Amino acid sequence: MNILVTAGPTREPIDPVRFIGNRSSGKMGYEIAAAFAREGHTVLLVSGPTSLDVPDGVDFLPVETAGEMHEAVSTHIGRMQVAVFAAAVADYMPSKVAKEKIKKSAEALTLELVRAPDILGTCRSKHGFAGTLVGFAAETENLIANAREKLTRKQCDLIIANDVSKPGIGFESDQNEVTLVYPDRIEQLPLASKHDLAHQLVRAILMLHTEKSATH
Ligand code: CTP
Repeated sequence: MNILVTAGPTREPIDPVRFIGNRSSGKMGYEIAAAFAREGHTVLLVSGPTSLDVPDGVDFLPVETAGEMHEAVSTHIGRMQVAVFAAAVADYMPSKVAKEKIKKSAEALTLELVRAPDILGTCRSKHGFAGTLVGFAAETENLIANAREKLTRKQCDLIIANDVSKPGIGFESDQNEVTLVYPDRIEQLPLASKHDLAHQLVRAILMLHTEKSATH
């Protein structure tokens, strides 16, 4: 099968030397891409800047901004059967990028931010993607309720939810503890290395895809 995985942070430029980024390491998405490839699938990994090596047997498309990631996904989503959105995409970006480095002068500086494209959120509505759609939800409160709201709003088949307020898991960690939120049930997975967890997630996603294909 053809599988799309997005991973890593995005960088939204402010001027030629500065950007708005986030603490995503990209590890979870890279491990998921690697696990799909080990299962024999054709994987395209669309990734923001990370310090990770590209997994063996994975096609790689590097991007920087939410806009570039959106364009890459728009180009390739049409031939995918499964899409997993693990990237930590900026929700807002500077309304304009300064051509020259912004010099300090006043005591305060206000940046105007505008909404970045919601890549996962437009997969069904804009691109008519009919395959198995999986998103992530990084939450600090009301984990299940917020994940369920995202599942419905972004028309996903599964949301992989993690509580980023818990120390030692999620961002910048080698371990993660997630809850799988499906339309009709939830499943809590135990704390595991991102490597082992990726294998379990891929199994769950492939099973979901088989169930979905059988009913369509
Ligand atoms: N996502 C995306 N494009 C964006 C923002 C998010 O594709 N511009 C995807 C992420 O890859 C993830 C999911 O949407 O799979 C959830 O992202 P999150 O930022 O947690 O959700 P939001 O809808 O932006 O909600 P909020 O930030 O308000 O919690």
